[in-house]
Amino acid sequence: MRLGCCYYPEHWPEQMWSDDARRMAEMGLSRVRIGEFAWSRIEPEAGRFNWDWLDRAIATLSSAGLGIILGTPIATPPNWLVKAMPDMIAYDAQGRPRKFGSRRHYCFSHLGYRREAARITRALAERYGKHPAVVAWQTDNEYGCHDTAISYSDSAAAAFRAWLRAKYDTVAALNAAWGNIFWSMDYTEFAAIDPPNLTVTEPNPAHVLDWRRFSSNQVVSFNRAQVDIIRALSPGRDVTHNFMGFFTQFDHHDVARDLDVVSWDSYPLGFLEQFWFPEADKLRYARQGHPDIAAFHHDLYRGAAREGRWWVMEQQPGPVNWARYNPAPLLGMVRLWTLEALAHGVELVSYFRWRQAPFAQEQMHSGLLRPDSSDDEAVAEVKRAAADIMILGQIGTPLKQAALVFSYEADWIIDTQPQGASFHYLELVYTMYSTLRRLGLNVDIISPNADLDGYQMVVVPCLPILDAVLVEKLAALACPVLIGPRSGSKTHTFSIPDNLPPGALQAHLPIKVGRVESLRPGLEHLCEGTRISRWIEHIESDLAPEFRTDEGLGLVYRNGRIRYLAAWPNAGLLAKIFGSMCAAAGLIATDLPADLRIVTTATHQFAFNYGTDTLLLDTYLDRASGFDYFVGTHSVPPAGVAVWVRSSSPSPSMTDFAASAT
Ligand code: GAL
Repeated sequence: MRLGCCYYPEHWPEQMWSDDARRMAEMGLSRVRIGEFAWSRIEPEAGRFNWDWLDRAIATLSSAGLGIILGTPIATPPNWLVKAMPDMIAYDAQGRPRKFGSRRHYCFSHLGYRREAARITRALAERYGKHPAVVAWQTDNEYGCHDTAISYSDSAAAAFRAWLRAKYDTVAALNAAWGNIFWSMDYTEFAAIDPPNLTVTEPNPAHVLDWRRFSSNQVVSFNRAQVDIIRALSPGRDVTHNFMGFFTQFDHHDVARDLDVVSWDSYPLGFLEQFWFPEADKLRYARQGHPDIAAFHHDLYRGAAREGRWWVMEQQPGPVNWARYNPAPLLGMVRLWTLEALAHGVELVSYFRWRQAPFAQEQMHSGLLRPDSSDDEAVAEVKRAAADIMILGQIGTPLKQAALVFSYEADWIIDTQPQGASFHYLELVYTMYSTLRRLGLNVDIISPNADLDGYQMVVVPCLPILDAVLVEKLAALACPVLIGPRSGSKTHTFSIPDNLPPGALQAHLPIKVGRVESLRPGLEHLCEGTRISRWIEHIESDLAPEFRTDEGLGLVYRNGRIRYLAAWPNAGLLAKIFGSMCAAAGLIATDLPADLRIVTTATHQFAFNYGTDTLLLDTYLDRASGFDYFVGTHSVPPAGVAVWVRSSSPSPSMTDFAASAT
């Protein structure tokens, strides 16, 4: 595992570069990402290239032993380009052009911009593709950031029509597939079809779903064009893209197929503040991030990577500038986040950014150094993490235990037709993930097309389009399977299946969803003392439910190894279901406290304390004081980490995990 940072030589006088490079190396960093926003400095006017500064920056950084990750600067098309090609701008859902003056103002469908992006990418790859210091490339920067994956421009509308024609061939077929007879929405020609924005009331969900699929494909093909150029001109270098947290506007599994390494940008405190977490958790974990935020994305992006190779391209080192509130991490968290990524199998953690810039939009965003070049607080933690990594050596990757099936399309479907204000796909998946992690399990988050072999349990939190191929794969597994609410509730063209939900699943689990209800806060059902809120399905079946509400509505149905959960998961009920699945799979579930997380690799175990109190591992793991610790001890302080060798740890859970390794 390596450490690195994101650096902007174009922000700083050249005299500072060599000292910066030297200090990076001294800190234990060996990778540096540069260039991803530097288009206007590389090409100040159309066709006039200014490479000298970048040549010298690369030479200076590499002479300190740093490997360069070069970004293609296409997230920031310069002003001269926008002036020359004003219709390259993205349009928002209100039909308004998004103006120049920040970043990501381009439309993925604009052919002229696609040519320009390819041109600058080719120019960079021709110049630096075979440079010995360039070890990897990052395409663009955070596709979709600032709500930019979907553009309602004329170029997008034209490309959408072509995409629809290729998919449906005749407009009659499209009308039938979408159900356009409803409200007389039939079209007579493809040319008449618009993107589904600005309609009087909600647009046809089938129209929206195709639009979402199309918009996602535009990101995929845009990225692929850059990857193809880089591969041809820069053989042997890794190509990556830096994905974001809790972001689903395009199918990351599809983009990842074209990458050697998947990377993501980890801002646990900002994500906690900006997403759905309860106020109490926002406060409790304000300086740590919720204990599953980073891990969730590590497991998601490791699962998306073709060969499991993934990086953290940007790691929060201190307060950020973009959340509603931007507290400082608890002392120790930067090291914890770094070692946690290691436990989940990362190859590189790169901090964003080297030095806080005193100007422009992100002047309030911290870096490793303060604007005056003095060390900011994270530096000591980075040095400590670098030392820990040296001590740890090879730690292997997390053992395969639970698989969680994640689908971007599922998110689009639920988002298009939520049917209840509190039904959120990501939150549902995260709740299931978090409950599994509280049981001490490793979780691989994988795509619906991934290989399911080798897992000891499989969880499909919610998959509205559940095709027969996946159903057969799930039914053939030898391990317990849980399938969550709304699975099998839609066809590919966004209709209710002929045999009613859960559609194809009925072949292996004889249940039918007769009706669904969304529940406003306070409208709840009780089940063995726990509250069922948000969503419940009324199931018709000859099977007796495994769990039911106090009034007798079935909540969980099981046939052999397959279970269906007919409600929004409540943590208590989920823990019981997962508990029985673990028992059936021969996995011992550990009841971890809210702040503690464990990761198990073939050779090591890691414990991470996200709380503000010291935790004694002995309370949760048998004979923890006798473990052979590489890092830390059985008493884990706030923001502390402990790592021990598995073979010397005789707790029952260890024994069981050992069985799962073979
Ligand atoms: C990321 C982005 C960086 C920087 C950072 C600030 O989303 O890739 O360029 O803006 O956030 O936290």
